[in-house]
Amino acid sequence: MQENMFSKTNKKVISKVISIDGPSASGKSSITKSVAQTLNLNHIDSGALYRYLTFKVLEKGEHFHLGANLLLDIWKDNLKIEFRPSFSLFYHGVDQGQFIREHSLSAKTSQLSQNPAVRDSVNQVMRELVQNSSEFCILEGRDIGTVVFPDAAIKFYITASPEVRAKRRYTELKNLNKLGDLSEAQILEDVVARDKADATRPIAPLTCPKDAIMVDTSDLNFDQVLKMVIEKIKAKI
Ligand code: DC
Repeated sequence: MQENMFSKTNKKVISKVISIDGPSASGKSSITKSVAQTLNLNHIDSGALYRYLTFKVLEKGEHFHLGANLLLDIWKDNLKIEFRPSFSLFYHGVDQGQFIREHSLSAKTSQLSQNPAVRDSVNQVMRELVQNSSEFCILEGRDIGTVVFPDAAIKFYITASPEVRAKRRYTELKNLNKLGDLSEAQILEDVVARDKADATRPIAPLTCPKDAIMVDTSDLNFDQVLKMVIEKIKAKI
């Protein structure tokens, strides 16, 4: 197994967090996953936590009251979180990946993630995961570098044009056989609507942290972005 570059004794007091923020379908998830695997870091996907919470709230029904204690009950209910080889959530031992990645859950998650109790709850889970981790953590989301870990050791903002992101999401859903009746034009509409909802919400809106490295992946391939992000991390930490 590859040596963890951050596990050596390091006297510098440095945040254990690398943040990767950006809009939906920007490619940040695949990049974060690969960076985590290459550098042997713990991977935390905040979108997956929001999606899981939304999935569970919907399962409990419309009348579920989103109080802090009830949200806590969801996190304590037979959930196991794994960081490697990539961030995964297991409920009663069953990987929840395929349920929480359904396209139909995306809009509902964007809606629910505007609720302050939901944000506090997810943020608390992430902070505990980082606190209990002896390794460096790489976290992906919308507000990791701005709100959750403003003192992150290194911050990235990964983006691409809405058209490029819609095309990528279309291909991804097609490859997963989850396209259904969706056209690329409908996906573009969803991408633009979700960007707007995530960027204009009053709490923790999606925005590029002012001290982040901005990476526009519209004209770059996966390997180029991966190389660039890894080089920046190695140069800084
Ligand atoms: O990254 P994703 O598409 O899996 O995220 C799903 C939704 O979760 C997204 O529409 C907004 C919300 N989210 C958020 O509000 N804050 C984060 N840090 C991550 C995701």
